[in-house]
Amino acid sequence: MKLEISIKWETKISFLSSLDQHLRSIIKNHGKSFAIIADKNVWDLYETQIKEAFSDLTLHVIQFDAKDAEKNLMSVEKIYQTLVHNHCRKDTVIIGLGGGVILDMAGFAAATYQRGLSFISIPTTLLAMVDACLGGKTGVNFQDSKNYIGSFYPAKEIAIYPGFLQSISSSEIRMGMAEVIKYALIWDKDLFFELEKCHLPKNDPVFWKNLVQKCLQIKLHVIEKDPLDQSLRNILNFGHTIGHAIESSSNYVISHGAAVAIGMIVESRLSLLEGHISQTDFDHIYTLIKNYKYPLLLPKDISIDSYIQLLLKDKKASNGLVCVLLSSIGSCFHKEMTYAVPIKKTVMEEVLTWMKKEFKEIS
Ligand SMILES: NC(=O)c1ccc[n+]([C@@H]2O[C@H](COP(=O)([O-])OP(=O)(O)OC[C@H]3O[C@@H](n4cnc5c(N)ncnc54)[C@H](O)[C@@H]3O)[C@@H](O)[C@H]2O)c1
Repeated sequence: MKLEISIKWETKISFLSSLDQHLRSIIKNHGKSFAIIADKNVWDLYETQIKEAFSDLTLHVIQFDAKDAEKNLMSVEKIYQTLVHNHCRKDTVIIGLGGGVILDMAGFAAATYQRGLSFISIPTTLLAMVDACLGGKTGVNFQDSKNYIGSFYPAKEIAIYPGFLQSISSSEIRMGMAEVIKYALIWDKDLFFELEKCHLPKNDPVFWKNLVQKCLQIKLHVIEKDPLDQSLRNILNFGHTIGHAIESSSNYVISHGAAVAIGMIVESRLSLLEGHISQTDFDHIYTLIKNYKYPLLLPKDISIDSYIQLLLKDKKASNGLVCVLLSSIGSCFHKEMTYAVPIKKTVMEEVLTWMKKEFKEIS
């Protein structure tokens, strides 16, 4: 006997021109009862406009301080408790309103509460708009490992309002730019050269809409080919193998974007050591990332051995150390379509030794 079921993923992506009228026209199509898992800062800033969109619909609001240190099962349990308390059933639609931290937790709660409620994603940071909102990866950190518990559970709709970017700090914009630089390095050489201009007009929604669209096009293309992260989708993890180890060993004091920025430099260095990119390409990449003025700090007192232990726990590593490497600016190295390639322990130790000499530790 054999059971064969193919499950269809369908995610609609809409760009909003206003938060009240336009958002209302979207949510009305999904139901009458909603629970918003909201970033507290975002809710404080946009409560009036968002409530307007939900007038005469049932709305429960669950607010969180968006911190990676809070992206855990205890926070998800708080969501379940509020949903139970408010008698939320299968017809309740969960909305994630916030950056990547909130969207990952809200999506996971939506995937697991009563075995799955409809989920709408409303990203409010650049990082969440260009990356975290799309692709169905939901989940939380567990013990010392990033995103260790989770599921694939795509949003039914992603509603992107570029106007949200006007209230986020320039440093948060830069954190989002780390994922934009990642797309350029793994896929789009022309984008890399555009990013060299480093001009970020914060109050220009058209500029941000175009940039977000460009990044989501790349992510869509990759996910369509490999939705469950078994081959090509691994490239979206470039910079994240080392980045996640830095982020989690700092107890999330070092933010995701800043950790990924160092991770991309170190994994480019690894690509150089393995003979896949030239010294010129490496220097070019390092200069671009430095120009975006990331803090580029490491956690305090983490030994090479502790990093190796964390890297061995990476979800891509089933049998030893692995990493996604570049083959040039704008493309990734692969061996017969395997993109997370094995790395010898001695080579990893060499690059980690370089990293510890190159970057200062956080004070
Ligand atoms: N699921 C995925 O595919 C995926 C992809 C990339 C990253 N992530 C995850 O995303 C997380 C990082 O997300 P992030 O960088 O968006 O950070 P974040 O969610 O922690 O938000 C950063 C800060 O910005 C504030 N903020 C958010 N929107 C705002 C707005 N419009 N105005 C003012 N302040 C606002 C928040 O309150 C917070 O202080 C990490 O946990 C990472 O693992 C997930």
